[in-house]
Amino acid sequence: KAPANITIDPLRIVAKELKFLNKNIRQLLGSGHPILDTVAKYYTQSEGKHVRPLLVLLMSRAIAAAPKRTRRDTLIPDSRAIDTPMSPPKVLYDANPDQAGHTPITGPSYETDYSFPNDGSILPSQRRLAEITELIHTASLLHDDVIDHSTLRRSEPSANILFGNKMAVLAGDFLLGRASVALARLRDPEVTELLATVIANLIEGEFMQLKNTALDEKEPRWSEENVSYYLQKTYLKSASLISKSCRAAALLAHSAPEVVDAAYAYGRNLGLAFQLVDDMLDYTISGSELGKPAGADLELGLATAPLLFAWKERPELGRLVGRKFIEPGDVDEARSIVLQTDGLEQTRALAQEYADKAVSAISSFPPGEAKDGLEEMCIKLMKRRR
Ligand code: FPP
Ligand code: MG
Ligand code: MG
Repeated sequence: KAPANITIDPLRIVAKELKFLNKNIRQLLGSGHPILDTVAKYYTQSEGKHVRPLLVLLMSRAIAAAPKRTRRDTLIPDSRAIDTPMSPPKVLYDANPDQAGHTPITGPSYETDYSFPNDGSILPSQRRLAEITELIHTASLLHDDVIDHSTLRRSEPSANILFGNKMAVLAGDFLLGRASVALARLRDPEVTELLATVIANLIEGEFMQLKNTALDEKEPRWSEENVSYYLQKTYLKSASLISKSCRAAALLAHSAPEVVDAAYAYGRNLGLAFQLVDDMLDYTISGSELGKPAGADLELGLATAPLLFAWKERPELGRLVGRKFIEPGDVDEARSIVLQTDGLEQTRALAQEYADKAVSAISSFPPGEAKDGLEEMCIKLMKRRR
């Protein structure tokens, strides 16, 4: 355990692996069509936080020395069932055939990047998984900015503004295609199934947000059901990718089932906390600091956690919720009511609960800087301002 006065920097722990992340992602995204190439790579130019790959890499390192699964743990019954750890999976390094003849690969080859020396604890397949999570996330952002009519992403014009809706949607689809190819090449059916489910979950979550059937009334009344709908939507939209990719990192390492479950529980709780903080920042932080317009959720007609908590105390919010804050002055009125209640405080408290659960999920992991890094992520996420 690091002494309390020494600050742990999760980014530093996996810096070597993160260094090549963007370059490898850009190679996965090469297209012979110059404009598709540009649009697909557009969000890899801006400074993303790389939260998902960072978590996958930290998780991979943290579980490297944790118990491995045994033949007895595998689904396929094995007559020679003995408690010997299985060898790590083989990863195929061959380049994407689609790139051959289209985009010349300049500089060090794909294979060279992966032979970059590391201490052996992060598998090439786990690094690739980190890249896949960022690809899926970026695909969802390309589509999200179309759906949300966004103008700004990471303080730059969003892709839909620069290239138009059609190209932004197609580029997002292209990213998903390339992510799927990379996923298939991991040759791990369970990991493929997990990440394919994530893609479906993202769409289900976005759909739940777009068509909130729990609020399908003119003047809905507050109910516990609204909160569970919101949490379910939040899991699908935000926590699914984080939790299932943490789980996949453990599967790729052939971790024991309890380690796989712990990795998932960590990701699930951290993912929920992460989105709750996001929903809080939408009320509390200025647009210039966020790098995207603030107060966007109410403008989009969305009732997130701070408003749901406020609504319990202030039933008059139901009228505004029912018409999705569409009338002039609705957004300001809803906002000021939320700020008069302890809706933001309750949101923070719930996020803290999930962050604490994430920390306790990994309590049995072997001590080390990667485990410290995963714990630090939970502290950092509560303090973040963008
Ligand atoms: C950002 O949310 C968006 C997401 C976390 C996921 C959105 C999912 C889709 C658009 C479904 C399509 C998915 C794929 C994989 C193509 P936000 O709008 O609350 O955050 P923001 O402020 O960053 O825009
Ligand atoms: Mg958005
Ligand atoms: Mg959105």
